[in-house]
Amino acid sequence: MSSNQEKTPLYDALKQFAGGNPMSFHVPGHKHGTIFPEKGREFFESVLPLDMTELTGLDDLHATRDVIYEAQELAADFFGADATHFLIGGSTAGNLAMILSVCSAGDKVIVQRNSHKSIFNGLELGGARPVLIAPEFDESLDRYTAPDIETITQALQQHPDAKAVVLTYPDYFGKTFALREIIELIHEYNIPVLVDEAHGVHFSLSGVFPDSAVRLGADAVVQSAHKTTPAMTMGALLHIQSERIASHRTQHYLQMIQSSSPSYPIMASLDLARYYLANLPAYDMALILDSARQVRAILDSGQCWDLLSSDDPLKMTLQAKPGISGNTIAGLFEQEGIYPELSTHHQLLLIHGLGSFTETNKLKNAVKRITAQLKNIPNRDIIDTSNLFKQRVTVLDLDYSAIEAYQVTQIPLRQAENYIAAEAIIPYPPGIPLVLKGERITLSHIKVIEQFIQQGVTIQHRHIDHGISVFCTSGLQRGKSV
Ligand SMILES: Cc1ncc(COP(=O)(O)O)c(C=O)c1O
Repeated sequence: MSSNQEKTPLYDALKQFAGGNPMSFHVPGHKHGTIFPEKGREFFESVLPLDMTELTGLDDLHATRDVIYEAQELAADFFGADATHFLIGGSTAGNLAMILSVCSAGDKVIVQRNSHKSIFNGLELGGARPVLIAPEFDESLDRYTAPDIETITQALQQHPDAKAVVLTYPDYFGKTFALREIIELIHEYNIPVLVDEAHGVHFSLSGVFPDSAVRLGADAVVQSAHKTTPAMTMGALLHIQSERIASHRTQHYLQMIQSSSPSYPIMASLDLARYYLANLPAYDMALILDSARQVRAILDSGQCWDLLSSDDPLKMTLQAKPGISGNTIAGLFEQEGIYPELSTHHQLLLIHGLGSFTETNKLKNAVKRITAQLKNIPNRDIIDTSNLFKQRVTVLDLDYSAIEAYQVTQIPLRQAENYIAAEAIIPYPPGIPLVLKGERITLSHIKVIEQFIQQGVTIQHRHIDHGISVFCTSGLQRGKSV
């Protein structure tokens, strides 16, 4: 790193501006917080003076040349990228822009089937033809992880004309895979590798965590800075380090996707989050890891779940014992005033931040009480999801380009077998579509969705309580390929 990572140019400029007692004849309407409902003042007061707009000296995210430019340069230097773009719409915005940067209508893009919905939304917006690669089901973790190298090789051999390969690394739960080897393989085809590293921004702290996708040679990497570093919600980063990605396209799509009034508090928090990572003393890091170890040990003492292994020491996944639901355990933690990141039908994820807990008795006592309560809760059905992605390399049953020709109708879930979904069916969290828009609905899907609904899993699909949106064409539902 050649730059001075102690600098925070964007934050400093905002602070200096706010300190000058400016008189506002511009947006935003709260006028540095002077016009604000009294009832909200207590918490908003300190941050509103930083909520500025593109005034002289404060730069413009869509035409950077001053303090935002400098802050992005410092971030690029720290993360090891050629260029870093601040995102104020989360990794969602980054994934859309990253995908639109490399593909045009009709282009093939090889994509991990268990990607976040924002990846598929990007492909749909770009009119791409996704080549879906199935992830492996890891028995020891009882969930899907990443595609293996054989599957990726098969996809590349069948589709060497693909415009990109899109992978997720690590997964929500901190699981990594041999990304460097896979990137090298894909680069032999001169295809860019786009990585959704929403859950790995802290991997840039070298030596402590697995290597970040930027260091491993990915061409474009999206990181949700807000997930594991002290950045505000929606603060994220898009890193580019390759001539395989046309920078003018990235800029073009970023300015299309992102607000023309980007949030300065979010951008300043990105500047500060990078500063936090770059200046975290080794001693503090040791304390953080020690605290994470202590939390793991406490969680491991629960008798109604197993603590799963993780490549990321900050991620703690509890696997509920058979018959117990992860959502039930989450509810009990919440009753104790302890809020996990997510729960699924069989697992629970807790994220340890980049700080230390000094007091763990609350957690210890909660684990004891929850264990006792769970012993009296009636068993639930075990939901088997291990058979969902059967084909290693496949394509959508109905291409995005063909979709417009068909009307959409709603039918009861029970009758949806063999119809093609007109809208993704997404258990949330984690936001990975169980059925994609354009994908044929199978009996296994229906069974799993029914069990999810029965167990109170939130499903994102309009009117899920009344049925499933499907494309309305005779022939499609009989399994005819389109
Ligand atoms: C793998 C993955 N990618 C992208 C996103 C979207 O991130 P954001 O909430 O920052 O838009 C998420 C959100 O959870 C995610 O899990």
